[in-house]
Amino acid sequence: MNIRLYGRVVLISGGASGMGASHARAFIAAGAAVMIGDIADEAGRRLSAELGERAAYVHLDVTSAADWERAVAETVRRFGELSVLVNNAGVLDGGPLGTYTKKQWQQVISVNLTGPFLGLSAARDALVAARPSSVINISSAAGIQGVAGMHAYTASKFGLRGLTKSAALELAPHGVRVNSVHPGGILTPMIGATEEVTVDRGADTRTRLGIPQEVSSLVVFLASTESSYCNGAEYLVDGGMTAGVIAN
Ligand SMILES: NC(=O)c1ccc[n+]([C@@H]2O[C@H](COP(=O)([O-])OP(=O)(O)OC[C@H]3O[C@@H](n4cnc5c(N)ncnc54)[C@H](O)[C@@H]3O)[C@@H](O)[C@H]2O)c1
Repeated sequence: MNIRLYGRVVLISGGASGMGASHARAFIAAGAAVMIGDIADEAGRRLSAELGERAAYVHLDVTSAADWERAVAETVRRFGELSVLVNNAGVLDGGPLGTYTKKQWQQVISVNLTGPFLGLSAARDALVAARPSSVINISSAAGIQGVAGMHAYTASKFGLRGLTKSAALELAPHGVRVNSVHPGGILTPMIGATEEVTVDRGADTRTRLGIPQEVSSLVVFLASTESSYCNGAEYLVDGGMTAGVIAN
């Protein structure tokens, strides 16, 4: 058995589909136990059943502090501790200034930025108790550079990058590392892809999209003690999207 994360207990928000589901599979393969939290109850329960006894599902709307308290308590009750938190749940929309509404803005900020804040707040004591612990905040390439018309999404992902740093500095003395991951275009339901996609991993990364597994390997690394000196930093997995302009 792969023992890279043996005994570690992971809570993944938005773990029922897309990258969250891929992370759950990768954590199980690395020997960890995984609590999948999501609002998509049917998909979450199905994935949990598929992953076996080291997986479980809890209903978690990341905009609800009460849901976070319950998800953390349920994780500790079921698996004995909480040592890795992956703030992965996110929503995407956009529209030009003048038509993009305050309600749309608040919904995206609420899920993508307030959600991780509530998650960190609820999980803090459990993470400290399970030290060494790791928090991975799933931001975006849109947390590194702006995207035209995607105001709330860009702001939420830049905000999450900042929250990562304030939390990392505060929690470092307590044995909890906090880092952010910044994917580029990844083939998931968020951008209309099915979960069964494959790509030619040898193809030009500038002109292809990524697949969830290419992000999961970075997330697993940041969760493990192999990354024990990585803290408060941003990790790009974008095929070079933010590296600069292509001259030819
Ligand atoms: N797909 C991409 O190209 C891409 C690129 C950069 C960053 N990201 C980020 O990666 C993360 C995962 O995205 P994905 O592409 O796998 O998307 P996805 O839509 O496939 O999965 C998102 C999951 O979050 C869940 N979710 C939505 N609102 C929630 C809420 N209020 N509470 C709990 N769960 C909720 C959904 O039910 C879904 O299971 C997101 O934070 C997204 O912003 C995605």
